[in-house]
Amino acid sequence: MKPILIFDSGVGGLTVLRELRVLAPDRRYVYVADDAAFPYGAWEEPALLKHMVALFGDLIRAYEPEITVIACNTASTLAINALREAYPNEIFVGTVPAIKPAAERTRSGVVAVLATPGTVKRQYTRDLIRDYAERCHVRLVGSSHLAKLAEVYMREGFVDEDAVAAEIAPCFIEADGKRTDIVVLACTHYPFLVNRMRKVAPWPVDWIDPAEAIARRARSLIGDEADTGAGEDIAVFTSGIADQAIRRVLKGFGLRVETRRD
Ligand code: DGL
Repeated sequence: MKPILIFDSGVGGLTVLRELRVLAPDRRYVYVADDAAFPYGAWEEPALLKHMVALFGDLIRAYEPEITVIACNTASTLAINALREAYPNEIFVGTVPAIKPAAERTRSGVVAVLATPGTVKRQYTRDLIRDYAERCHVRLVGSSHLAKLAEVYMREGFVDEDAVAAEIAPCFIEADGKRTDIVVLACTHYPFLVNRMRKVAPWPVDWIDPAEAIARRARSLIGDEADTGAGEDIAVFTSGIADQAIRRVLKGFGLRVETRRD
């Protein structure tokens, strides 16, 4: 049976994998981290788009997925339409900032979208705000360091809380007696740090993690049969290098690291 491919630039997509496993435990998963190109947030758009379209040609050929989940906002907001055009026979599920649910849920009308610098710049993100959050005050916060801090945290179990506090500080605004009451986690790496964010936040807010909603969407697009084949779940790192620390993390997620097939 064909596997489900989950893609990210690093470990962030694991936040989506763990939700999808709950909904579709009998399926086989291939997790791909394009770590050779991490962080996606720092790339120029044309170069990243070209890189992704080429990379997906290889991945689709190698793993023949039933469905591909782009568990990365930075990648989806740039490339989801181009990927659907380039590979019309494939099913793609994207991950885009949860601006609509935040706009529906906010009481103060002040919402922050915490993302990579790439996602913050995207026209896709601006269009979501125009279409769904016109009546809200939306503060876009592009963080250059949080995805990297999450990578380090997952490998080493350590995170510099002062650095986390500095990265999230611009999300917290107060104007005309109203203050931020929702922070959208618009990078799949960030839910791994949410407890630290909660701890260092200047006041309590709701943190929206879209992983479960993405998993539900993916689940709705696949069949009900269980994969009874002997294949195990694997993780593929485009750098071809996965150190001991990351192998341990992936083992915890039930993934064996495999060298990339071309
Ligand atoms: N996990 C990715 C996202 O959801 C971003 C990490 C990166 O900058 O590569 O946007």
